[in-house]
Amino acid sequence: MKAAGKGAPLRVGIAGLGTVGGGTLRALADNAEAIGLRCGRPVRAVAVSARDRHKERGLDLSACRWHDDPLALAADPEVEVVVELIGGSDGPAKALVEAALEAGKPVVTANKALLAHHGTALARLAEARDAGLYYEAAVAGGIPVIGLLRDGLAGNRVERVAGILNGTCNYILTTMRESGREFADVLAEAQALGYAEADPGFDIDGVDAAHKLAILTALAFGCTLDFEAVRVEGIRQISAVDIAFAEELGLRIKLLGIAARNGGGGGPGGGDGGGEATVSQRVAPVMVPLGSPLAAVEGVFNAVLAEGDFVGKIMAEGAGAGERPTASAVVADLAAIARGDRRAVFGVPAAALRRLAAAPVEDQAGAWYLRLMVIDQPGVIAEVAAALRDEEISVEALLQRGRDPGELVPVVITTHETSEGRMRRAVARIAALEACLEAPRLIRIESE
Ligand code: NDP
Ligand code: HSE
Repeated sequence: MKAAGKGAPLRVGIAGLGTVGGGTLRALADNAEAIGLRCGRPVRAVAVSARDRHKERGLDLSACRWHDDPLALAADPEVEVVVELIGGSDGPAKALVEAALEAGKPVVTANKALLAHHGTALARLAEARDAGLYYEAAVAGGIPVIGLLRDGLAGNRVERVAGILNGTCNYILTTMRESGREFADVLAEAQALGYAEADPGFDIDGVDAAHKLAILTALAFGCTLDFEAVRVEGIRQISAVDIAFAEELGLRIKLLGIAARNGGGGGPGGGDGGGEATVSQRVAPVMVPLGSPLAAVEGVFNAVLAEGDFVGKIMAEGAGAGERPTASAVVADLAAIARGDRRAVFGVPAAALRRLAAAPVEDQAGAWYLRLMVIDQPGVIAEVAAALRDEEISVEALLQRGRDPGELVPVVITTHETSEGRMRRAVARIAALEACLEAPRLIRIESE
């Protein structure tokens, strides 16, 4: 970064003037004095780019040079820092970030898709060019989880990170529980309220949460980003009956992203024995106990729970999206740059990021909720129990509601801890039973 001189403004170029870009300009203007005092120098937008120069945005752009081509921000000699708020894992966002880093300019981005797919290569480029890459806004919007993991927990070995990483899904699950309505109905409402996109696939199929989890995994464990290794399941299959059964069992359904490191010893950057470490990364609807902190995070809120060997468990909660919370995180990164803070992109030098193998799915242990729709007739439970017994799965509880001979009734079973491989084999056998007329619903139960 070029020296701007003590007290000289940090000159920022912003690409993308939509929800987050507009919010960033407003935050820089509204809180200019406080930001200047905290940074020891003003932080000023001097150039912008978006698709439509003539769009009315309710923003004062009079002090900003306009570029039709966002890449021009990387070449503009007035621009010291480039803020990428266009979005998308490739295309103009990636081209801009690469061009700015190549030019030695620090980059701030909120683009989790870009980082999930290209984060390792971009970190290497940033460090090779001695330009920073900052992305506090990319995970959990306004909650400063990147700083928390990278800086606040720098003295810890982190073994597990779990989070509610998608506000749209959390809103849908919360509303389904509160209203007893079905998924499709509540999704339509979320779209009408502007929480979910018109094409909501990235949110409800878990992809957005998986992008964010891949970033948290790299930070927490000092490993290369491996988005392809994230097992992703969304919330389309969650029904009101499962939500109601969960409550009856003292549990609540949440879409969680969970990353855990198994074995390997040591922390980021190296091991101290204990064999090769593996990492599991999952995004899936799971059941958590009603008393757990994640169960209490409702509506569009996000939360991230991390476990460090010295600090113990800590959780950060707040607004995970939206103009102002996300802009808050973008400006936090700009303030760090203005102050001259410099951190390795993923907490350790990019060259030290280790490639960790994915933990075998078959071996992953957990307790389970299983809901069946079976014909109400003698002997069905015995057949189900035999399938579980043959895989040495221990039943924790069994619930059957109603009496309707010859008709379908729900049967719910919760199990003690078993391997995922055993559970899936038992469920495949149960699904093939003549009396089992709908696909069984299998949901993992987390201990918190
Ligand atoms: P918007 O769709 O609201 O804004 C996108 C902006 O990018 C628009 O101003 C658009 O221009 C501009 N743009 C699109 N294509 C180009 C292009 N080829 N050249 C120049 N400008 C272009 O997106 P958001 O603000 O919601 O999201 C921005 C980023 O922030 C994304 O990566 C997103 O994932 C991330 N994010 C968003 C959050 C949110 O709550 N919205 C929360 C956390 C992260 P124009 O206005 O002229 O059409
Ligand atoms: N679509 C995301 C959510 C917001 O619903 O949480 C942007 O990260």
